[in-house]
Amino acid sequence: MADVSAGQKARKPIMAGNWKMHHTHLEAIQVVQKLSYRLSSEDYERCEVVLCPSFTSLRSVQTVIEADKLPIGLGAQNVFWEEKGAFTGEVSPLMLVKLAVSYVIAGHSERRELFGETDEMVNKKVKAVLAAGMTPIMCVGETLEERESGQTAAKVSRQVQAGLEGVTPEQVGGMVVAYEPIWAIGTGRNATPEDANETIGTIRSMVAGIAGEAPAAQVRIQYGGSVKPGNVAAIMAQPEIDGALVGGASLEADDFAQIVRWA
Ligand code: PGA
Repeated sequence: MADVSAGQKARKPIMAGNWKMHHTHLEAIQVVQKLSYRLSSEDYERCEVVLCPSFTSLRSVQTVIEADKLPIGLGAQNVFWEEKGAFTGEVSPLMLVKLAVSYVIAGHSERRELFGETDEMVNKKVKAVLAAGMTPIMCVGETLEERESGQTAAKVSRQVQAGLEGVTPEQVGGMVVAYEPIWAIGTGRNATPEDANETIGTIRSMVAGIAGEAPAAQVRIQYGGSVKPGNVAAIMAQPEIDGALVGGASLEADDFAQIVRWA
């Protein structure tokens, strides 16, 4: 395993709420406002806070963030890699940039499993997001079957390798990777903090092999899968874990604020 733990303190933790297909734009506005009352400037200094609402809520959330000058990053849950054209139902990187979106989730396991996204498609999205000046949150993770048959490292390695194909070392260093064991998503069953730390350490070593030690020390790697106010502190106590991608527990401002203030 690459000895990059010394860089750990230099990496600012990042907590991202993935709202999935929840919240109308009206509900989204309420949650952001409530969240902003719960968080202080010290919270934002200590931890980067990102919200990934549905496409239909991006504009509304952006307006609240701008009007109240909130240091909250805006993220999208998906993107198409082409610049424009006859792609009914798709959203381009530029459309997101113009809404002040700075993060885009690429290759969430729900997109991979339910909508047939391949490693190659995820790689195209990662590159398109970077080319547009945004930061990808690239998701990787194994199924329960793969974990039980000892294939976690092999699966995640394949996804990392393919996802970073053609991405420059400098770009890799600025990215966010989310390690999300599929069996832990929305199930209430989280990986033990030690297991998550070990796999994230493995991912960091893979990144070192692909892009070099410096980007590996810089890249922020989140854990995702049933993160809640009650388990976040133990997860964040692990040296390799730089934050969380939070689904269910990010929908309510109180819970997500507690997660951001895990310490
Ligand atoms: P969960 O989802 O926190 O509801 O398990 C995490 C995710 O899918 O990003």
